[in-house]
Order: sequence, then structure tokens, then C-alpha cells
Amino acid sequence: MTTSLPPHPVWSPPSPVPTSQLLQLTPRSWWKQVQRRARLSYDLAIDLGTSNLRIYVPEQGIVVEEPSVLASDKESQQPLAYGTEALPLVGRTPLHVQVHHPIRNGNIADLDWSEQMLRHWMEQAQEGLKLFRPRVAIGASMSAVGIERDALIDVVLQAGAREVRLIDQSVAAALGSGVLGDGPMGHLVVDIGGGTTDVAVISMLGIVASESIPIAGEVLTKTIQQYIRHTHRLEIGMLSAERLKRRLVDLESRGEPQAGLEVGGLHLGSDNFSHVRVEQSELQDALTQPLASIVSAIRRVLERTPVELLVDICDRGILLTGGGSLLTGLDQLISQELGMLVHRAADPLNAVALGTGYALEHQQNYERLLTVAA
Ligand SMILES: Nc1ncnc2c1ncn2[C@@H]1O[C@H](COP(=O)(O)OP(=O)(O)OP(=O)(O)O)[C@@H](O)[C@H]1O
Ligand SMILES: [Mg+2]
Repeated sequence: MTTSLPPHPVWSPPSPVPTSQLLQLTPRSWWKQVQRRARLSYDLAIDLGTSNLRIYVPEQGIVVEEPSVLASDKESQQPLAYGTEALPLVGRTPLHVQVHHPIRNGNIADLDWSEQMLRHWMEQAQEGLKLFRPRVAIGASMSAVGIERDALIDVVLQAGAREVRLIDQSVAAALGSGVLGDGPMGHLVVDIGGGTTDVAVISMLGIVASESIPIAGEVLTKTIQQYIRHTHRLEIGMLSAERLKRRLVDLESRGEPQAGLEVGGLHLGSDNFSHVRVEQSELQDALTQPLASIVSAIRRVLERTPVELLVDICDRGILLTGGGSLLTGLDQLISQELGMLVHRAADPLNAVALGTGYALEHQQNYERLLTVAA
């Protein structure tokens, strides 16, 4: 059984401060007002994901939403294109161009290119005159251990931040979906991103039980690519496999009349370009194993959850966030396998960025969540 959650509260512009109140402002809060209004300094909330990077600016919302990819010139090592502009080059690189995916499984895989990419988008996010470097809050993957967290902090500082605060991505995802209070009620959040699936039970804004597995959206796409190679002897690109995943997979439609799609690629026997028709049921079968791994991870976390919280989760259901949760019918599949209610967040792709931004905007309430890193 699945239901959709109410959307994240919509931001509305602050009303001007009445003159009477301005007179009561302390020098510190007066300076904060000046900074906020004149935008001398920015606060940025960042979700640096394996597949996508998002930047939220308080009072503006999400201002950057781009693939975590960039292209550079092989010889000069100068960046040539970022994000959406670099994406079409994946799998089509001319000899002099290199494509970089600097984030792998939710962590920094390439320090230099991560820094280049982040600096570029942080600059894009801040308009006009910038007198001070921004303060940054960034979601950290649960799979990140000390050294990986240090690398993340380093990259953000090198990219131009003056201060970095880390927030657990699962907590941010729950906050950004508008479901998290600070009470003891238990929530189970499953964030299925591009590189990792993070499963976490949260209570009183803290993580009680969790698990992170490197099986998420990108593994599903690669599985489709490998399946087409082995079964149809056709080499297709990641972008074609991604298209098949989004347009053809429908986990709800077992046993119903079949849909299919044509896909083009290099035939492995003849080395000629050719097309094959791929049926919906084939892809459902091909994805059985990675999807079972995701369900098993959720089951293992449930097994480690204290019984009182388990009762809350049974009452409220499981929350799905992350782009991977948009796979058609995945919410139904998880619900059937575990016999529990499952909700997909209203804006699953942006949940972590919205939650990080929300915590940053309401710092007085969420100070504990935003660990100061520098
Ligand atoms: N409609 C859709 N159907 C299926 N999958 C989708 C859909 N839209 C996006 N995705 C998948 O969502 C994934 C990206 O999601 P998201 O942006 O949440 O990941 P990320 O935050 O960059 O990764 P991570 O959190 O693992 O570091 C991609 O693998 C993409 O294929
Ligand atoms: Mg993510």
C-alpha cells in the first residue's frame, strides 16, 4: 500500500522588519540583517551526490541542480564543460576530452575534480557582490568513514567555503520530506540515490540503526546494460540503458500485457549498428537481484530496530527518498515484500538538499545536527 506525503512547506519571502523592531536589534543581529539583505555573505546547503549535485540558498530554494559530471581537455587539464553540458559527452568523448565522475558511492573519489566541480557550482549559486566566503552545510553519506568525511570537508573548504557543517544525509532526507519532528517517534528512511542506498531508523533526530549498501540507481542502469549485452549481444551506452530504466521498467505490471521499446547499439557478432526490441518483463527479471539486495538491507535494519520504534514505523510506514526511488513500482514492491506501508517523498530527488537547507535556516533548532567541521 503506498501513499504520497504532503509537499515540503513552500518558502515565502520574509516581511520587512518594522522600524520599531530595528531599533531593538543588537549590533550582532543588526549585522546579520545587513548581511542577509545586502547578501554580503551566503549560506549554502549542498547535496553532493554520486549522480547529481544540488545547492540550496536560504530564502531562494534550490538554485543549482546538475549532474555530478564534468569534462576537461586531456592535455591542458582545463575544465571544458560542467553538469548538463558535460553529460552528453559521456560515452562519446572525442580523443582530446576526458569526462570525470568525481563522486563514487556517495564519497569523494577524485579530490581535484570534485573541488573544481564544486567551486564552479558554488560560484554560480552566489549572485552579485560577494564580500565573504560562504558558510556551507553539506549532507554526508552514512557510508562515509572518518577519512572520507575529512576528504569531503577538505574539498568544500578548497572550493571556497569559510566554514563547513556536516549533516547526516538520512536525517536531512527526512527533514526535507517534511516528516521529521524532534520527538522520540521512530521513522525509517530509505534514500536510494545513484551510488548508495542508505537505510536509517531515526528517532529524536538521531540515527538508531542504519545500513548503507553500494546498490542504487547506477547499479540498476549497469545491470540493464549488461543484460542487453549478454542476452541480445548488443553493446548499448549508459544513456540508452538509463532511458530504458526510466521509460520501460514498471514493477507493478507483472502478468499484464507487455510493453516494449527499441534500443540501438553495436551488435557484438557483426560489429554493425543494429536495433533490438526489449520487453518490459525482461528488464523486471534482470533487476530482480539488485532490487532484492535493497529489500534485504531494509529488512536487516528493521531486525535491529527496538520494538517500540518498530511499532511507530509500522503505523507510519517507510519513507522513500532519492532519485532511485522513482523507479516505477518500486514503492509497491518494497511494500509487498515487507508487508508495510511505503510512502515516496513528494520531491524525492531534492529531499536531502531541502532538509540540509531547512536545518541551516533553522539553525537555532537544529544546531546539534549540523556538526561544525572547520
Ligand atoms: N524516473 C526515474 N526512474 C528511475 N530512476 C530514476 C528516475 N529519475 C532518476 N532516477 C535515478 O536516480 C538516481 C539519482 O538520484 P539522486 O540524485 O538522488 O542520486 P545522488 O544523490 O546523486 O546519489 P547518492 O545519494 O547515492 O550519492 C540515478 O541513478 C537515476 O537513474
Ligand atoms: Mg543522494
